[in-house]
Amino acid sequence: MISIKSEREISLLKEAGHIVYLTHKYLKPFIKAGITTKELDKLAYDFITSKGATPSFKGYNGYPATICASINQEVVHGIPGNRKLKNGDIISIDIGACFKGYHGDSAWTYAVGEVEENKKYLMEHTEKSLYFGLEVIKPGARVGDIGNAIESYATKHKLGVIKELVGHGVGKNIHEEPDVPNYGIKGTGPILKEGMVIAVEPMLTSKSPEIVLLDDDWTIETEDYSDAAHYEHTVVVTKNGYKILTGGKNGEE
Ligand code: MF3
Ligand code: CO
Repeated sequence: MISIKSEREISLLKEAGHIVYLTHKYLKPFIKAGITTKELDKLAYDFITSKGATPSFKGYNGYPATICASINQEVVHGIPGNRKLKNGDIISIDIGACFKGYHGDSAWTYAVGEVEENKKYLMEHTEKSLYFGLEVIKPGARVGDIGNAIESYATKHKLGVIKELVGHGVGKNIHEEPDVPNYGIKGTGPILKEGMVIAVEPMLTSKSPEIVLLDDDWTIETEDYSDAAHYEHTVVVTKNGYKILTGGKNGEE
């Protein structure tokens, strides 16, 4: 069953989402050559807890850290460690925060220093594919419409769509129904209704969309070692469309 959130729940989800947004904003200036992903993780932990929230991922299925930090060919679930960022890397940072029992979830890919053209291209079009996916959201639209919009955009730009990793409902749990794939057929899948909250999260690759799981049992990377990007927002379905919960409030950038 896909839950419909009450007004009260939506306002708590908005608080949680806003904390995730602020955490991304806080981390951004630290994303530079020389910093380790563990240091970024500690900054995120301290920031989230200073806001009266808890990191959603820590302890989730045994995940050991606050953020997921996935570099270059890594797609998702990179565990923070002693690796230092280098100029020319791209890093996808996924952040979840829980506020008064409700979660927010958002991922973003960042450039470290100056990155090569094909990485810029991948980032630009993966971000755009997220907004193409979100644009179709309104009551009565189907989950397959979102996937179709993302897939069409990605294919048009010759990027690979990872099939095994999907978006999801968000609420009292970080992962709820429904699954929100980044591919699909228009007019199929669950029907969206006002008050549903979902995370849409395209994960696109420069070449092959095939992925492998590393020996740490968490990190997922591309099989052909091509780059991957990941952009995710948690949104609520509104009367006429949708509202991003993991963004700024009242025009704040
Ligand atoms: N943020 C991921 C998602 O978007 C979930 C992270 S799973 C964890 O669905 F285990 F790493 F927490
Ligand atoms: Co997610």
